[in-house]
Amino acid sequence: MENGTKPPVDVIVREVGLRDGIQNISVFMATPDKLEWLEAEADAGMPEMEVCSFVPARVIPQFTDAAEIVARALRIDGLTVSALIPNLKGAERGIAAGVHKLNFVMSVSASHNLANVRRSREDSLADFAAIAALIRTVEPERRPQLCAGLSTALGCTIEGRIPEKDVVHYAEKLAESGAGEIIVADTVGYADPTAVRRVFKAVQSAVAPLPVAAHFHDTRGLGLANALAALDTGVRRFDACLAGLGGCPFAPGASGNVVMEDLVFMFEGMGLRTGVDLDRLIAVRGILERALPGVALQGAIAKAKLPKGFAPQPATREALAAV
Ligand code: COA
Ligand code: ZN
Repeated sequence: MENGTKPPVDVIVREVGLRDGIQNISVFMATPDKLEWLEAEADAGMPEMEVCSFVPARVIPQFTDAAEIVARALRIDGLTVSALIPNLKGAERGIAAGVHKLNFVMSVSASHNLANVRRSREDSLADFAAIAALIRTVEPERRPQLCAGLSTALGCTIEGRIPEKDVVHYAEKLAESGAGEIIVADTVGYADPTAVRRVFKAVQSAVAPLPVAAHFHDTRGLGLANALAALDTGVRRFDACLAGLGGCPFAPGASGNVVMEDLVFMFEGMGLRTGVDLDRLIAVRGILERALPGVALQGAIAKAKLPKGFAPQPATREALAAV
């Protein structure tokens, strides 16, 4: 179930700031500030936003206002509204709130899965199967799309290297259980472009024709390079965060997502339409500056400004095929 009609885009960028971006920030971001961010970024043309997690408040207090944020997001015409869920209870809450998409999360690393969702990977797979069964009981017009994210797929700060065969195994299991999309996540920024090409190609061929999305963190400075490598393998759905906030509170050393403004700049410069107005997107940073004092905002394009004469190229399907 998606909301409204959208202009055609070549690459779908998805703002995860209202979830990933603020889950690791010790202060509560006031609900009116979250709503202002949500509306301003949707106004800039952002096609999809992950607006909260449905997790217990004692685990992450940042999302106690999830229902209110979702309710407002659902009133924005054309915005696809998603939320992260770690378990069946989260799915029940997400369905009740009426989100368009539920992004289930589990980790390929057994240790990170235990630290993050307090389960073995097999238990998470069982949870996912139960969630898929629950979703099938929801009447079609209220039924959210169910997507599955694989955290630590390119490395883990607890376990180190993650075998590619494990990533493929869990992707296949989630696909068999009814995932509508697999999100491969480099939770702690360990990836490089060669690893990205290898892992994304392997997952894509294992779950085809399911779409595979990319969720990169820029912890070691390779976020954009990795996004380009994923684009080369055929990925057309990219998570990112305004000003590069973000990080998993249960992954030691985790830091921010790929900077959304820089990602949009790269794609638009390459002639790939995102549907996002870069000037308006950059202006949304002002809300974060005011609402999150003391939180460092990342991003090259906001600091350096757009190049003189920069204009997004009119994208063509040929441009997309050529990358
Ligand atoms: N939302 C609200 N409450 C929930 C819930 C959810 N999604 N899941 C469980 N609960 C409640 C249960 O109802 C139960 O309540 P009770 O004590 O009043 O009966 C209580 O929490 C314990 O339930 P349990 O299933 O034992 O959960 P847990 O303590 O093992 O925690 C998770 C498991 C998955 C809920 C928790 O580890 C979590 O939220 N992890 C996600 C962390 C995250 O968001 N990381 C960053 C994103 S990758
Ligand atoms: Zn993340």
